[in-house]
Amino acid sequence: MSNTILEMRSITKTFPGVKALSDVNLDVREAEIHAIVGENGAGKSTLMKVLSGVYPDGSYDGEIVYKGEVQHFKSIRDSEHKGIVIIHQELALVPLLSIAENIFLGNEQARNGVIDWDETRDGARKLLGMVGLTEDPDTLVTNIGVGKQQLVEIAKALSKEVKLLILDEPTASLSEKDSAALLDLLMEFRRQGITSILISHKLNEISKVADRITVIRDGRSIETLNKEEISEDRIITLMVGRSLDDRYPPREPNIGDVVFEVKDWSVYHPLHRERQVIKNISINIRKGEVVGIAGLMGSGRTEFAMSVFGKSYGQKISGEVFLNGKKIDTATVEKAVANGLAYATEDRKTYGLNLIDHIKHNTTLANLGGISRAGVIDDMTEMDVANDYRKKTNIRSSSVYQITGNLSGGNQQKVVLSKWLFSNPDVLILDEPTRGIDVGAKYEIYTIINQLAAQGKAVLVISSEMPELLGITDRVYVMNEGRIVGEMPTSDASQEKIMRAIVRAEGKAS
Ligand SMILES: Nc1ncnc2c1ncn2[C@@H]1O[C@H](COP(=O)(O)OP(=O)(O)OP(=O)(O)O)[C@@H](O)[C@H]1O
Ligand SMILES: [Mg+2]
Repeated sequence: MSNTILEMRSITKTFPGVKALSDVNLDVREAEIHAIVGENGAGKSTLMKVLSGVYPDGSYDGEIVYKGEVQHFKSIRDSEHKGIVIIHQELALVPLLSIAENIFLGNEQARNGVIDWDETRDGARKLLGMVGLTEDPDTLVTNIGVGKQQLVEIAKALSKEVKLLILDEPTASLSEKDSAALLDLLMEFRRQGITSILISHKLNEISKVADRITVIRDGRSIETLNKEEISEDRIITLMVGRSLDDRYPPREPNIGDVVFEVKDWSVYHPLHRERQVIKNISINIRKGEVVGIAGLMGSGRTEFAMSVFGKSYGQKISGEVFLNGKKIDTATVEKAVANGLAYATEDRKTYGLNLIDHIKHNTTLANLGGISRAGVIDDMTEMDVANDYRKKTNIRSSSVYQITGNLSGGNQQKVVLSKWLFSNPDVLILDEPTRGIDVGAKYEIYTIINQLAAQGKAVLVISSEMPELLGITDRVYVMNEGRIVGEMPTSDASQEKIMRAIVRAEGKAS
């Protein structure tokens, strides 16, 4: 039997109006990968913030016993001193600093008060090697992909001599390849005796690497499963409190004429003028149709969508956009919205939400006309609308007056969706709509997508989860390196066919 390294006993944590955790128990053994799963808002991140001192001693009830001693962490610094390092759901690197600077931020390698840059670089290089990165330590963080940023965060954790590593949804925005690399790294850490706590909504990954799983529901610890008890169905049942027979709602499409069309769309990189990012893309969506764009990370799907939606990405943009056969102007976000487009982005922090405002205002932000009378916002109508969408998308919050910045990650995503649903668009573009969303809520979002299509809207879904695309769309385009390299009815599509289209295109390109 391995030793217990951590015990959280009867943890209770309340926020004004919300009991986020009640009597939660967690025990973690030395050198295991312990997964925590639960629905959006179940309390996973909060529990880890209690553990790491983000919520200091005294702000919660219960006891943390780490390495046999009761701990009273007053800050994150205290827990780090004991080797507990948390990597948060939203990455916390400083984009315009170098990799090396980020790794040693707050822990500068100084001699006589002067930063020793050689040592900083050497140290960084060594740590990068441990996580499998060969990047130059002087590279700015903004110039590397999210997958690598995640690894830099881990390298940073290693610089603090981590004993217990906490990862809050580390693979949510990683490609399959990067996720696999990260999980391999956790398994390597396990061999070295480092303990990991892993929070994730990707149940297949968890089933693969976790030694044990603790399920949290509605702020309570429900059960801890041992390796041999782990199955996706079992986890879902414990998470949701009932079994889910099907991951995707049934779909009976009723497809009409072409509603939305983009013709010959080309875009150049915002900084590198000569680099063409989107290459002569043409797509269409019919009335009532749900169309997907499949492709690997970096294939240009988001850049394409953003450039169409108000030229929010790129420069030297050319091409035409048509709605119901009429050419429309989408040159600014305002024009795109006025002409019937909506784009729910994958990056809710930067583009999706006003985090310091509450749910009610965020919900109506893209359609103030819909809640105004004679140009004046009607508070009651706004309240009704916000409550209605909160119910429809099942947002877990104390009320519509909760500040969106205080919502759990998945619930923030639902507010973004509500906002665009209420804008009542003809064409709804959803970019990674279920990233970080739990299995139950995913089903609800798919149902909403079906309803929108049934109302005759055109829906475009960008998703890196191929099973999801295959489960909810009528037709898929395959994109690679800025081009459409394949198109097929979903009834005829499979993961292999999509991958084959990508590989074939890569063969041609090189
Ligand atoms: N600072 C805060 N102020 C008020 N309420 C909060 C705050 N932080 C979290 N909550 C609430 O506590 C509950 C638990 O949130 P938490 O972020 O721990 O969920 P989670 O399990 O991590 O969900 P997700 O999977 O969506 O990330 C939610 O109802 C959330 O709205
Ligand atoms: Mg969370």
